[in-house]
Amino acid sequence: MRKPIIVGNWKMNKNNAETESFFKEVDAAAASENATYGIGCPFTDLKTAADNAKNLIVAAENCHFEDSGAFTGEVSVPMLEELGIKYCIIGHSERRQMFGDTDETVNKKAKRLIAAGMTPILCIGETEAQYDAGETEKVIRDQLTGSIADLDAKDVANMVIAYEPIWAIGTGKSATKEDAQNCCAIVRDQVKVMYGQEAADSVRVQYGGSVKPGNIVEYMACPDIDGALIGGASLKADSFLEIIEKTK
Ligand code: G3P
Repeated sequence: MRKPIIVGNWKMNKNNAETESFFKEVDAAAASENATYGIGCPFTDLKTAADNAKNLIVAAENCHFEDSGAFTGEVSVPMLEELGIKYCIIGHSERRQMFGDTDETVNKKAKRLIAAGMTPILCIGETEAQYDAGETEKVIRDQLTGSIADLDAKDVANMVIAYEPIWAIGTGKSATKEDAQNCCAIVRDQVKVMYGQEAADSVRVQYGGSVKPGNIVEYMACPDIDGALIGGASLKADSFLEIIEKTK
């Protein structure tokens, strides 16, 4: 009943020419009734990506919650709307750790995106120290409590939430499928606590952290994992194509 969604997150990689060639190579394969595939790319690549996407969805990697004003270097939701962008990653741990994003600002971004009819892909996840200290569940529940506060249940139902343990990002040290399933189930339970069973049943929960062609199938087989947010393995057309072929 939940349609899986697998999204690449290019982070600060690829220029326009590389974006065009990736989309030309991958887009046709992304046509599927059973799953949604997409790419999150830098602001400067969004137009090229959108112009070359028939099947892939295109996501921004961040947005500002205000519509305009003195926010040097920021990009607003109306600016993304103008390009026809419908998805936006928010609260990635790299933004939380390096650029000061907090549950509060992430919540404002979620609200602004929802008001525009866009789908937030909201990231949460614990550090290695928190994992080692057995604090994972508390961290997940706390981050969600702040990041999805004061929303409508129907809007939460349409969101995508990516559980990405920070220690698994770009390290090759992916979470076991048991850990990933357990944490994605906690995400769903926290949505239930805050917004009820229907929202919990509908919200799509992704796992992210060293996902690659060799482990995507085992994650996708987990009952509470509805997709993946993929960094490194989304950069090469070949490996993203392999991920699509294994999951469509
Ligand atoms: O948002 C995806 C990401 O942080 C995971 O990166 O390279 O471990 O797949 P990677």
